[in-house]
Amino acid sequence: MEKINAVITGVGGYVPKYILDNDEMSRIVDTTDEWIMERIGVKTRHILRDEERQGAGTSYLMTKAVEELMAKTQVDPDTIEAVICATTTPDYHFPSTASLVIGNLGFKHAFGFDMEAACAGFLYAMEVGASMITSGRRKRIIVCGGDFMSSMTNYMDRTTCPIFGDGAACVMMEATTEDYGLIESFLRTDSHFEPLHMAAGGSAKMPSHETVDAREHFVYQEGRTVFKYAVTDMSDAVEEIAKRHNLTKDDIAWIIPHQANVRIETAVARRIGVPAEKVMINIDHMANTSGGTLPLCLWEYEPKLKRGDNLIFTAFGAGFTWGASYMKWAYDGSKYSK
Ligand code: UT7
Repeated sequence: MEKINAVITGVGGYVPKYILDNDEMSRIVDTTDEWIMERIGVKTRHILRDEERQGAGTSYLMTKAVEELMAKTQVDPDTIEAVICATTTPDYHFPSTASLVIGNLGFKHAFGFDMEAACAGFLYAMEVGASMITSGRRKRIIVCGGDFMSSMTNYMDRTTCPIFGDGAACVMMEATTEDYGLIESFLRTDSHFEPLHMAAGGSAKMPSHETVDAREHFVYQEGRTVFKYAVTDMSDAVEEIAKRHNLTKDDIAWIIPHQANVRIETAVARRIGVPAEKVMINIDHMANTSGGTLPLCLWEYEPKLKRGDNLIFTAFGAGFTWGASYMKWAYDGSKYSK
């Protein structure tokens, strides 16, 4: 029997209309454009405002992204077999964001579920989606990654609020017998609660007047600690996956890193020895959209990609969760053809 691979056959994305720049940010908290650009590398971020979302949360962003994907790929909606949504900001604890997206798109033959692995969510979801395909059980699925980070950003905390933005993107994954697609993922999780978490709102610390007053429903981050782990763990993961597949730095067409801080991205590239022009960067105008960063990079860089390009994705997030995936890209420009 021929080996089945899981290949990306299309990318869709969406970022909300409102753009919050550093001048506006410096009127919200005590900061400056210079500090944010030098220490983080963000100039502007997209923010999902109430008047745009009209009561919906992350499902609004993901629905828009999937609508674009369906228009681009022109596949029959009845052939979509599953939708996986990687997000840390679901509309509700339940029902899942995936069920809202499936309902909005009218997919009649799909099942769906959410995956929560913070900023590494999309990396994990691609691996799960690819496994569904390479096992032979599904032929065509959609994997979404995205977050409504401003819904859990504390705009009284200058150490976190300039970092985050809102947005989502998605990929179509399909079965192929060609030698392309997601080859292997090296993924890890350990337990470091303190440096990066949201303290309340889950089953350990339920919402109460006290948790709201203490602003415990927002991102808490010890930036320096997370920074060090992010650089080390992402670099190690990229080196590991490259070693397993005998990829030298010249064999790598693109590194697609989680967009947490431009200094993290350049430090990882430096350690791997890959030049800056091979690293996808959009943090300057997208900021950190958590589960959205990797697919939003693909969405923006898709026209530059070529069939046969060796891509290495890498991400790091709360948990900690991290890893790297090796993918052989299957098409030139913005159109997949078998
Ligand atoms: O996506 C999940 C993974 N997350 C990450 O990978 C994020 C990792 N961490 C980071 O990106 C960085 O640590 C931050 C961007 C969060 C912070 O940058 P930093 O260079 O590590 O700054 P710092 O926390 O060491 O603070 C340096 C100084 C402090 O002042 P003092 O104590 O030296 O006087 C802060 O109070 O910068 C000050 N500061 C600011 N100043 C102006 C912190 N935030 C700001 C601000 N504007 N927004």
